[in-house]
Amino acid sequence: MIISGKVALITGAGSGIGRATAVALAQKGAARIWIVDRDDAGARETAALVAASGAEGIVRIVDVADTAALTGVFEEAARAGGLDIVFNNAGVLVGRELFPETSLARLQAIIAVNITAVVLGTQLAISQMSPRGGGVVINTGSTTAFHSRHRDYLYAATKAAVVSFSASCAPLFETTGVRVNAVLPGLVNTPILLATGDGQLADYMHPILANNVALAPEDIARGVIALIEDDTRIGEQLVVSAGPASAAAFDQSRIRVFG
Ligand SMILES: NC(=O)c1ccc[n+]([C@@H]2O[C@H](COP(=O)([O-])OP(=O)(O)OC[C@H]3O[C@@H](n4cnc5c(N)ncnc54)[C@H](O)[C@@H]3O)[C@@H](O)[C@H]2O)c1
Repeated sequence: MIISGKVALITGAGSGIGRATAVALAQKGAARIWIVDRDDAGARETAALVAASGAEGIVRIVDVADTAALTGVFEEAARAGGLDIVFNNAGVLVGRELFPETSLARLQAIIAVNITAVVLGTQLAISQMSPRGGGVVINTGSTTAFHSRHRDYLYAATKAAVVSFSASCAPLFETTGVRVNAVLPGLVNTPILLATGDGQLADYMHPILANNVALAPEDIARGVIALIEDDTRIGEQLVVSAGPASAAAFDQSRIRVFG
């Protein structure tokens, strides 16, 4: 897909990977970006960055776990001309209250954000993109989907669900013209790492940070842009990771991308 002139919607666009992707899309000439986040200040900051790169940023403050509100933003975007690109990216860690101590309410909240909102966002995107001839959906997974030892068990499982769901949607391209892909970041230097402990690092994050090289959000955004631009990528799971610190010491390219 040629990004110039296109319209995108990004959830979790108020920070980190979502913001970096919004800016990258604007720099590629996207006309309009729907910036969806529950964080008002972060979303407005992203909108300013997007505007500085020449695109229109429309901020909608929405908790993606609120299915009616999320549906409402997609419907508004459809009425305003439609969407070409949807990046279902908002995600949360379980945090300090790790499984099996996690309350049922917290378990359901994590699943609502990390799985239900991604599936609903994909469904809404396809239903409005298909009549217009197609589009691209990217869902944010994680390399934790492949680990059996990630300490945040439920988070890892939700990301495995996102990866499996996105890969399973590949055949929909034939009937709808919509490419559904997943990006799987490794460790990335964003505020989500602090969110594991109410503003402080949770204990289990220390060895993760010590043993892995963190990429920048812009590194992941480059992977997302590559997925959007290459029409041959259908149902792809793109890993963008610097890997373990020991491996990075030998691998000067820092980024290993598996197609
Ligand atoms: N940072 C990493 O190491 C890493 C690694 C793999 C995957 N990821 C995934 O990347 C995605 C983006 O995370 P990030 O690292 O940029 O973190 P981040 O904290 O910088 O950004 C996440 C954004 O999502 C928003 N958000 C969270 N829950 C929301 C909700 N219910 N409704 C609306 N907005 C919500 C937050 O307000 C924030 O602006 C997440 O899905 C995360 O799981 C991150």
